[in-house]
Amino acid sequence: MIYLDNGATTYPKPQNVLLSVNRALREYGANPGRSGHAMSLKAAEEIFNCRKSVASLFNVQNIENIIFTLNCTSACNTVLKGTLKKGDHVVVSCLEHNAVMRPLNELTKKGISYTVANFKDTDDESIIDAFRQAITGKTKLIVCVHVSNVWGIRMPIERLTALAHIYGIDIMVDAAQSAGMLPIDVTANEIDYLCTAGHKGLYGPMGTGVMIIADPDKVESLTQGGTGSSSLSIEQPSNPPDKFESGTPNLSGIVGLKSGIEFVKNRGVNNILQRETFLAQRLYDKLKNVEGVNLYTPRPDGEKHLPVLSFNLFDKGSEEVSSLLGQNGIYTRGGLHCAPAAHIYMGTEDKGTVRIVPSAFTTREDIDKTAFIINKLSYKIKRNM
Ligand code: ALA
Repeated sequence: MIYLDNGATTYPKPQNVLLSVNRALREYGANPGRSGHAMSLKAAEEIFNCRKSVASLFNVQNIENIIFTLNCTSACNTVLKGTLKKGDHVVVSCLEHNAVMRPLNELTKKGISYTVANFKDTDDESIIDAFRQAITGKTKLIVCVHVSNVWGIRMPIERLTALAHIYGIDIMVDAAQSAGMLPIDVTANEIDYLCTAGHKGLYGPMGTGVMIIADPDKVESLTQGGTGSSSLSIEQPSNPPDKFESGTPNLSGIVGLKSGIEFVKNRGVNNILQRETFLAQRLYDKLKNVEGVNLYTPRPDGEKHLPVLSFNLFDKGSEEVSSLLGQNGIYTRGGLHCAPAAHIYMGTEDKGTVRIVPSAFTTREDIDKTAFIINKLSYKIKRNM
């Protein structure tokens, strides 16, 4: 089996992730921050260590402002629902995932409005212009995906942050697809809210996500409950991370996430990007001459176009092609990738696309075999047309 569905979640996970999850469950699987015995203390210490790893990866100054969540979606929901009030306006890109679009749609029922910054050309100027034009006097938040999970298009989040701040607006960046593949510095770039998944490019287990907030006082907590702190008070603690982390945390997941981040740091974010770009370029070059393949985007360059390849084969449905690939041992994701907006942008909303995303474990041979199988499929489809 060749796994190329790393945009949905990376597989396999690094060996150190498997070992640390196993060790957490076997050796110190107690409830962190709740009790005074050694196992509970060790569990709390390991969660703190993961916060430190996240802080160093994204250059976060205040470690308490790193909040562990269930996934990127729950982080996005907390920022959107915890900050926006009736009358507020939001500007979003035309490439957003449903993790952003669905909560925003829900918020419109409460008197919050949004405008989609539409652009056709993906050069930074056109994107910035589209956002600038969509800003109104009521805009409180700009929301932008860092890298499109469908097209691999990199958004100029540094410039968008500067634009937002000129207008006194906050920015939320959805880094689900970019964390671990692109360097992100929340302090230097003054990102107000960074939301990301732990189980994609950070190589942690599923059930892990991260929300980093510049000013925790600006965000209301969506969940109240036990934190192991200030238990006599019926009020939710006002300090992060407890303000946002009620209930028993995902200890093994967070410990695994720490190991995933270690893996990324050891390999080096830039090295990972370089290698995945090389593999995506290799596949692109092989596929571009295959009859019936439509690749939609330019060859990945690791700058503007990251190693996320979406394609279709003749007029076949993408889910059918993805399933045929699966039968040949090539695991991809077809359909809309929970990002219909990104498909509407490219005009692929009727059949979606087949998406291929390499990981740090993908080999040249995997890519060559995949290209060979797609070539074979193309030939078969053509023969039956
Ligand atoms: N958002 C994930 C994807 O792109 C699940 O597949």
